[in-house]
Amino acid sequence: MKSKEKNNIDVVIRKMIIKDYDPLIALWKEGNIPYRPQGRDSKKNIRWQLQQPNCLYFVAEDEGTIVGAILGTHDGRKGWINRLIITSSYRQKGIAKRLIKEFENQLASVGIHIVACLIEDWNTASMQVFKRLGYTKHTDILYFSKRKNRKT
Ligand SMILES: CC(C)(COP(=O)(O)OP(=O)(O)OC[C@H]1O[C@@H](n2cnc3c(N)ncnc32)[C@H](O)[C@@H]1OP(=O)(O)O)[C@@H](O)C(=O)NCCC(=O)NCCS
Repeated sequence: MKSKEKNNIDVVIRKMIIKDYDPLIALWKEGNIPYRPQGRDSKKNIRWQLQQPNCLYFVAEDEGTIVGAILGTHDGRKGWINRLIITSSYRQKGIAKRLIKEFENQLASVGIHIVACLIEDWNTASMQVFKRLGYTKHTDILYFSKRKNRKT
């Protein structure tokens, strides 16, 4: 899956493998994405997640360097986009759009046609991106969660 992006950058979109873990963490750190290194984002947990059929994790790679990633999951009814990130020097070249499209296509192939994501209220840039990609903002839904501890 290789294509020439805007500004002549060749990017390959491929399934994530566990070898991509450290570069992925570096991307999240650089992009200030909140993540749970002791919990669901630990190497042990990501390794396990990669083996699950409902985890569709993809990376964007430029000549061997990981420049973006999406952790897509589904629950059999709906797809969820998690931890989407593109390294700052590769933004606004359509790479997130390609990662999201790849995930949407994989979902469609198993009959799932609803895709959702949670966005922090300060992240207006991300909201703009999802709006551009056809996603609707729901102002009448509040996120409730229950967790074993703060690390998970
Ligand atoms: C959000 C993010 C993943 C977008 O990645 P990207 O590769 O730059 O996005 P794309 O180039 O694929 O852009 C997709 C669309 O959104 C638009 N867009 C991209 N960045 C935008 C911005 N900052 N403001 C407004 N629109 C933007 C693009 O023009 C494009 O629109 P088009 O299809 O009409 O041309 C990237 O900015 C990022 O990694 N941010 C930090 C981490 C983050 O916030 N992740 C999301 C967590 S919910």
